[in-house]
Amino acid sequence: MTVPLRKLMLMLKIFIVGTCGVVLCLFFLEQRVGGGAVKQQQNITILLWHWPFARTYSLVGDVCHDLYGISGCILTDSHASFPDADVVVFHHHELKRKWVRLPLHLPRPPTQKWLWLSLEPPASNGPLSAYDSVFNWTMSYRRDADVFIPYGELVPKATASVPVGDENDVDNVIPGNKTHLACWVVSNYKSRHERSKVYQRLKQVMKVQVYGRWVRRRLSDRDLLPTISRCFFYLAFENSQSVDYVTEKLWRNSFQAGAVPIVLGPPRSNYEALVPAHSFIHVDDFDSPEEMAGFLQQLAADHQRYASYLAWHQLHDVKVYNDWRERLCQICRRYHSLDPSKVYHHLDSWANG
Ligand SMILES: *[C@@H]1O[C@H](CO)[C@@H](O)[C@H](O)[C@H]1NC(C)=O
Ligand SMILES: *[C@@H]1O[C@H](CO)[C@@H](O)[C@H](O)[C@H]1NC(C)=O
Ligand SMILES: *[C@@H]1O[C@H](CO)[C@@H](O)[C@H](O)[C@H]1NC(C)=O
Repeated sequence: MTVPLRKLMLMLKIFIVGTCGVVLCLFFLEQRVGGGAVKQQQNITILLWHWPFARTYSLVGDVCHDLYGISGCILTDSHASFPDADVVVFHHHELKRKWVRLPLHLPRPPTQKWLWLSLEPPASNGPLSAYDSVFNWTMSYRRDADVFIPYGELVPKATASVPVGDENDVDNVIPGNKTHLACWVVSNYKSRHERSKVYQRLKQVMKVQVYGRWVRRRLSDRDLLPTISRCFFYLAFENSQSVDYVTEKLWRNSFQAGAVPIVLGPPRSNYEALVPAHSFIHVDDFDSPEEMAGFLQQLAADHQRYASYLAWHQLHDVKVYNDWRERLCQICRRYHSLDPSKVYHHLDSWANG
């Protein structure tokens, strides 16, 4: 009897020790995982190697938190932070002109990511083969970039606004005092641009009010939106027709001003991925500029129908991105969902392909 009892006691001891072991093990595992979670909450340091177009902004204080509500994101432009930086950002424009060199001589911390930043279309890139296997991530207006930073976006309004007064009075939803059929602001006019060719044909058949450096009628920042708000349509013609390349010509000059954009850029389907299908008119919707001019004249005369192109204003606001700091803070938002071991072996085929 005594022997089995001793055996039983021994088994019980083994069981208790074993259980405690498992519990302790789980406890330590928990600690480690918990530790990992704490580690995840550590600050992400973004080092901007040089300011895009030499336009600097203040990085004093916790900029991403204070300005954009993104915490744990440290922005710096101090090269001394290189050994501690999680991400080093290089803007293409200055690299291309060789005003700035990549710090290839510095020992690169094993988990550090180098990020290639550009908001310019492929036509401005030039060859990129010198950058094969240099960058880990990309940041651009392209939706397939690791960090997608559009020129603008539509955001739902906090509270849906119903036009003041009679909802059926369409003039209430048409912003501005429309006195011009179509307007265009152009500073960099090149006759080889597709947009110039379309404009030259369009102006034969309809009135287009032109502003900007090209015609020596520059609009100040303050005058830009009030001036365009007096136009039914705005020629949101991109200087380059490339995938996802939709700039402030749409977001600011048209949408914010309250003019319906006539777009020339990527195909209609690409615009529809970014904005409501019935918020713009695409040059490709017509067989010729003459046909388009006829349509625009009819639309401007039919206020009910014209107002339908502005209906999205009731549910959405336009958000335009101007400040490089806001764009850089987006890296932290995306950081943990990005591929940590990515390498762009052929940046050229991604960016220019
Ligand atoms: C993160 O940055 C903030 C603001 O600079 C600082 O107060 C905090 O101590 C940092 N946290 C860690 C874990 O380094
Ligand atoms: C709209 O503009 C026209 C022409 O400049 C002007 O005569 C008219 O008073 C304006 N209307 C309003 C409501 O501002
Ligand atoms: C980032 O790219 C470099 C250059 O190709 C590569 O050596 C490095 O391993 C990549 N970083 C990570 C964390 O995978």
